[in-house]
Amino acid sequence: MKISIATTIPKEKTLILFALENETFGIQDKKLIEEAKEQGFKGKENTTVLLFPKNESPAKRIILTGLGKEKTLTEEKLRRASACALRKAQNISSEEISLFLPQILNNPYKESYAILEGALLANYKFDKYLSKQDGSKKIQSCSVIGSEKFESDIKKGIELAQTLSETACFVRDLVNEPPSSMTPTQFAKLAKEVEKNCKSSGIRLKIFEKKEIEKMGMGALLGVNRGSAEPPIFLHFHYKPVKASKSIAFVGKGITFDSGGLSLKTAEGMETMKMDMAGAATILGIFKAIPKIKPAVELHGIMALTENMPGGRAYKPGDVLKAMNGKTIEVLNTDAEGRLILADALSYAVKQNPDAIIDLATLTMAVVIGLGALVAGYMGNNEELLNAIKKASLESNEKFWPLPLEKDYREGLNSTVADIKNISSTRREGGSIVGGLFLQEFVGDKPWAHLDIAGPAWSAKESHYLSPGGTGFPSRTLLHYLLSFN
Ligand code: BES
Ligand code: MN
Ligand code: ZN
Repeated sequence: MKISIATTIPKEKTLILFALENETFGIQDKKLIEEAKEQGFKGKENTTVLLFPKNESPAKRIILTGLGKEKTLTEEKLRRASACALRKAQNISSEEISLFLPQILNNPYKESYAILEGALLANYKFDKYLSKQDGSKKIQSCSVIGSEKFESDIKKGIELAQTLSETACFVRDLVNEPPSSMTPTQFAKLAKEVEKNCKSSGIRLKIFEKKEIEKMGMGALLGVNRGSAEPPIFLHFHYKPVKASKSIAFVGKGITFDSGGLSLKTAEGMETMKMDMAGAATILGIFKAIPKIKPAVELHGIMALTENMPGGRAYKPGDVLKAMNGKTIEVLNTDAEGRLILADALSYAVKQNPDAIIDLATLTMAVVIGLGALVAGYMGNNEELLNAIKKASLESNEKFWPLPLEKDYREGLNSTVADIKNISSTRREGGSIVGGLFLQEFVGDKPWAHLDIAGPAWSAKESHYLSPGGTGFPSRTLLHYLLSFN
């Protein structure tokens, strides 16, 4: 979408006005108010009305989009109202829109960020494999209209919205790509492209292929890979700005398809398992965005990539694997593979000696049961780090809820033949916490946070600014987090 900023209303574009739920919708034009009311529009959230005003109107088409009551207005409501209006514009095949800055929150920066982000995220469609486009077209251009005196704030808001939504949509593309084309090797190719485009920003990429993964002693990643015909890949991005107060390592789970291995999933359980690389995809997206946000923090992006397949050479329940940090793991369920590849990736991250580690993983079904499809579970060993992530998530409105790393559950992972088992004797009880406790064994004493994004990384349906498939979660949160260092 082409984005511009304007101080006057372009006649030819569909004008989108944000309308409060009150007598006048917060707009001046009496005729417009009348017409909207006649059509039953009340300014309620998630409702729109399409109007064709008479000649003297500044725009030939207007969509009013409801915000609900002024008192309860939030940035998220602006995002959703904008998304709702954009979908309406798509349905009437209008390809050009303008968003009129509502100026209700008294913060043109945040308002312009929210309305444009909602529109850009809602305009996403994964349609590359459709032989016929559906009726509704993507919006091609959008201008944000606001008064001149806020121009620099609006510009900043627009830039942020563009960077964050572009990143989220890039992550969505990676997640939505069919698993037989988004293999570890293909993922590495895309990573190489990202490096090429970002070299001038001080970003470097190391790609480790199977031989080097063997040399590094990543027995857990290699174990998971054994049942697959596709080789594993280990990626390490590094960004070092001139002024950096801290160094952070992002560590991502990159299972490009999770069949469960010999502990095979059900057919239904496998349907969405191309999304099991959402953690790694998010990190790649973030590195792609670094030249734009230029965070004042040193950053490592570490990703372990493999399929989890039940081929003839597949690792078996009962096998013992040795992770890079020397710890041995008894595998009792080959479907608990994420924690295995992360055992190596976290060990590797510790070796880089960062000030903090944050891992991103679609790790457990249990977190989906406990928190639902919209909320990620997060846990860790450092309150300050967890608070910083929570704070960033309030900017993006990507939802996180804390889970306790309950020490007394650790004994369920005790093994009689290895240092640790990959599932607990307590079976499914507290599955997400157990996953976190397992990962904790591989972070040493580094400040660390674990984000279990199994629910919100994927959306089963279209709703507000989400579309079916990958959501881009938690890329916007982590970009806000990185920006907090600037
Ligand atoms: N990738 C899955 C978790 C998952 C499930 C993500 C549904 C998104 C939606 C993970 O590898 C897995 O299979 N976890 C098992 C662990 C269990 C065997 C201890 C689970 O949660 O069932
Ligand atoms: Mn699994
Ligand atoms: Zn998995």
